Amino acid sequence: MKSKFSFCNKIIFLLGFYFLLLTTATNFLRAQPTNSDSTNSVSEAPAVIPVLQIKADQVVAEVSPTLYGLMTEDINFALEGGLYAELIRNRTFKANPTNAVYWSAVGNGAISVDASTPLNDALNVSLKLDASLASKDSPAGFMNAGFWGIPVHPNSKYCVSFYAKSVGRFSGALTVKLQSVDGKTVYSSAEISGLSGEWKKFEFSLFTKDVAPSKDNLFVITADAPGTIWFQQVSLFPPTYKNRPNGTRPDLMELMAGMHPSFLRFPGGDFLEGHQLDHRFDWKKTIGDISQRPGHMNDAWGYWTTDGFGLLEFLEWCEDLNMQPVLALYAGYSKNPKVIQPGADLQPYVQDALDEIEYVTGDASTKWGAQRIQDGHPTPFTLSYVEIGNEDFFDKSGSYNGRFAQFYDAIKAKYPQLQIISTVGNDHPESLRVHSRTPDLVDEHFYKTEEQMEAQSHLYDNRPRTGPKVFVGEWATRVGSPTPNMAGALGDAAWMCCMERNSDLVLLSSYAPLFVNVSDLAKGGSMQWRSDLLGYDALTSYGSPSYYAQAMFSSNHGEHVLATDSLNVPTYTTRSGRQVPSLFFDATRDSQSGTIFLKIVNRLGSPQSIHVKITGANNVNSSAEAVVMSASSPDDTNSIQEPTKIIPVTSNVDGLSADFTRAFPPFSITILKVKSN
Ligand code: AHR
Repeated sequence: MKSKFSFCNKIIFLLGFYFLLLTTATNFLRAQPTNSDSTNSVSEAPAVIPVLQIKADQVVAEVSPTLYGLMTEDINFALEGGLYAELIRNRTFKANPTNAVYWSAVGNGAISVDASTPLNDALNVSLKLDASLASKDSPAGFMNAGFWGIPVHPNSKYCVSFYAKSVGRFSGALTVKLQSVDGKTVYSSAEISGLSGEWKKFEFSLFTKDVAPSKDNLFVITADAPGTIWFQQVSLFPPTYKNRPNGTRPDLMELMAGMHPSFLRFPGGDFLEGHQLDHRFDWKKTIGDISQRPGHMNDAWGYWTTDGFGLLEFLEWCEDLNMQPVLALYAGYSKNPKVIQPGADLQPYVQDALDEIEYVTGDASTKWGAQRIQDGHPTPFTLSYVEIGNEDFFDKSGSYNGRFAQFYDAIKAKYPQLQIISTVGNDHPESLRVHSRTPDLVDEHFYKTEEQMEAQSHLYDNRPRTGPKVFVGEWATRVGSPTPNMAGALGDAAWMCCMERNSDLVLLSSYAPLFVNVSDLAKGGSMQWRSDLLGYDALTSYGSPSYYAQAMFSSNHGEHVLATDSLNVPTYTTRSGRQVPSLFFDATRDSQSGTIFLKIVNRLGSPQSIHVKITGANNVNSSAEAVVMSASSPDDTNSIQEPTKIIPVTSNVDGLSADFTRAFPPFSITILKVKSN
């Protein structure tokens, strides 16, 4: 598919080269490194100027409108303690059956997890507060410190709710407070009375004044009279994105909106399957009133989830960011204890998947569509892609072939329009791939070092276009922790050039993991997987250089991929001593405006002069908008403390034509928006 230089062209190019060397000598000399970075050997300065040819009149592919998307699961406190705006940790007291973890007693109160006083079958325990010694002067209660802090924002409304009951009528009052850890500042408080021997839901708001934002705060409930009180589902929500009840964190939603993602793959990842069958994402237990959701142990990543962020919340996230869902269906494989073999044993799971699709897409005449309407979402969601399982190449029993077929046949019979994705791609041996049916797409995952990403920057150029399309459902250059650094962004940009250049084949792609709570990076803390796109603590958030690289790519492309060619692409010596390319590129064109989006990645630690030849375009403007992200070192990064150290900068540049030479900054990703007709 990719056009190659003809023999004649090559000769002309080589002859032209000697001339080119002379005419651009000044520019080239200017491009020599002034500081040699330890990352690159002295051999990095290119001996001859690389040449990129953009063939503006040769469209080789269409850019897939779904190329840039998101992938998510609950890892690194991505949902609980992350996107899901709930601020109370272990709000249902189920994280530990015997211990009220993340809760502490206040004053002379005593707390325990009580299995004998359940709220209902789903929330089948409660927190028992023994406040027998409580008085107005010496209140007794309990408190929660959230997910590494409770954020207090100025002039904000916080929605509080909980279920409570007492032994008989409770004559005293409860005081509910949002206060600093040292107790010196109370940001807001409310008094609640009316507890009785029956479970009752209390709902009210706390308002903060014009205070400085902070996160070292506590949520505290105390009783001012003697008694025994049980609590369940103690919840505190700050303002959410678009004010959705049970909604999401605005700052994280806004960061994602900046990526213009076209789809969301969910709910995993390993979170879909769980390590044990009982710990999978069992979607029917994640819908409806949150007090009816039992929650489950997220054993893939080692923490409890309330499933307050369930199937409908994932879908509403899609709706809020204008993304289409890519629904991963549980397919009978959890890593432990064993696979559910195709046949009768698997059939209930196939039915569950069909029900799930019906919940997402069905109208009022269908059982599960009606359930979604009852849950508060009358309009069906548009669904085009479903994925059967996750990373089933780990299942060495060979059952995926049969499991896939069983799901495929049932889904295609009822929903022939759906595109069905296999989780085993060409990055795995033939023997593990699906042969029983032809998947519409295969999901290929790439977690790589920077040099590996750069070395595979032409991976798809020559893949035959005859087989299934590709979904790169998880990928990341894993350099930098907790979030990737500039080296990660450079590896990512090299890889995105490859995917975009080949997006007739690669229809969808999504980086993973998307989120990390950076509050506690020690083992067993808030991070289970390093190099994650977006970082946050309870109060603030930031995008990594990789995030900005993706936002640059997804916001700047045309719909046509143009033929390109190159000569003398230099290499550099990586830290491991390997030679890999140091220049990556692709070009797309917007047919309406004629704008050519030329993406160039310079991995060298010095400016790199590049001779760009644009053929087949008329009237190439001499000035263009340039979006450039660069760093002084590949180790540079963003963080909670320095959230925007590395960001793209937009400017106007001059000196362009159909044939120009330009120096691109060290460690940089550049998008030139070249106007032509
Ligand atoms: O993204 C982290 C994990 O990597 C995913 O859960 C899994 O699919 C993959 O192995």
